[in-house]
Amino acid sequence: MRLLVTGGCGFIGTNFIYLMLERHPDWAIYNLDKLTYAGNRKNLLPVEQGPDKDRYHFLHGDICDRDYVEQILRDHHIDAVVNFAAESHVDRSINDPSPFVTTNVQGAQNLFECARQTGIGRFVHVSTDEVYGTLGPEGKFMESTPLAPNSPYSASKAGADLMARAYFETYGLPVVITRCSNNYGPYQFPEKLIPLMFQNAKANKSLPVYGDGMNIRDWIYVDDHCTGVELALLKGREGQAYNFGGNAEKPNIEVVKTILAALDKPESLITYVKDRPGHDKRYAMDFSLAHSELSFSPSLDFTEGIRKTLEWYEANTEWLEDVQSGAYREFMQEWYKERK
Ligand code: NAD
Ligand code: TYD
Repeated sequence: MRLLVTGGCGFIGTNFIYLMLERHPDWAIYNLDKLTYAGNRKNLLPVEQGPDKDRYHFLHGDICDRDYVEQILRDHHIDAVVNFAAESHVDRSINDPSPFVTTNVQGAQNLFECARQTGIGRFVHVSTDEVYGTLGPEGKFMESTPLAPNSPYSASKAGADLMARAYFETYGLPVVITRCSNNYGPYQFPEKLIPLMFQNAKANKSLPVYGDGMNIRDWIYVDDHCTGVELALLKGREGQAYNFGGNAEKPNIEVVKTILAALDKPESLITYVKDRPGHDKRYAMDFSLAHSELSFSPSLDFTEGIRKTLEWYEANTEWLEDVQSGAYREFMQEWYKERK
């Protein structure tokens, strides 16, 4: 298989590419990434320079670029596309929704159109549970739950989901949509809850908990989400959306306290701050469809997953500094210079 992965230098994309190269020795992977603040080419440098370098190719570019995307699909004889590329942070979307509409809606539509024009055989569009909005104390999101997004981020993701549906219904584009709950694991940018709290706790800085800390998220270890995407790619029904979850619903305050305990830091570091506007109260996933049709189930429980995750951040504090300091950009300039 010749696979185009978009957004492969971000958190989930990086983990996905490592896993797929390991599990499928006959696959070639092309990674199209714009390298926004959240994209780090260095994540995959061991692949670019290692024994798999002939079947992994980094392509610097924007999913909104029609000519470039079509050229990639044709020139590299791409069989399938997995779209991870997105603006992904809810708080940033509240500050400025525009880039979210551009990349998450227009960029996704551009990919669908290019896939249609070039006759791509398979397309997995990676979406989120946040498109369903929010839950009360009971119940779970199902694929049939109406889309009711509450943030500019989730609205932009829902926009792309609807466009994917339209491309399937109207043009027969062989697209599968995946909707997953909150991921955690290595390479997550430290603007998201778990790596941010790790970083602040390590530095004895205050841990900002929004509202009363009782908003609930379902947490899934990133490799389990990647496996879900792989299953959707290999076995998903065209035109179908599949929910993935981790069976680990937790109030935010519990997650924060778990991190503090693991790092042996005092709970006095916790600071309750002004709530996020439109803050969804609770997410929970019914993933019985993915279980029955794709044999999906999450393999790692939260205790084990958070232990592995914190271990990775402990061992990679340089990565945390790097992605925030601009050092990585300087590094890349050097990297390009050396290879000119
Ligand atoms: P991320 O922000 O860590 O990475 C996004 C990547 O996309 C970066 O490498 C960035 O450079 C790239 N990118 C952004 N705009 C681009 C553009 N116009 N063209 C090409 N590349 C571009 O995000 P993530 O957490 O890895 O999420 C990946 C996908 O999974 C997103 O679509 C997100 O909505 C979805 N998702 C994330 C979660 C989660 O908990 N993180 C949960 C469910 C679904
Ligand atoms: P986040 O990691 O931003 O993911 P999402 O908003 O997509 O679920 O946030 C996870 C939860 O943690 C969410 O309920 C908001 C909360 N949160 C805080 O309380 N403090 C923070 O500093 C951050 C970043 C998030």
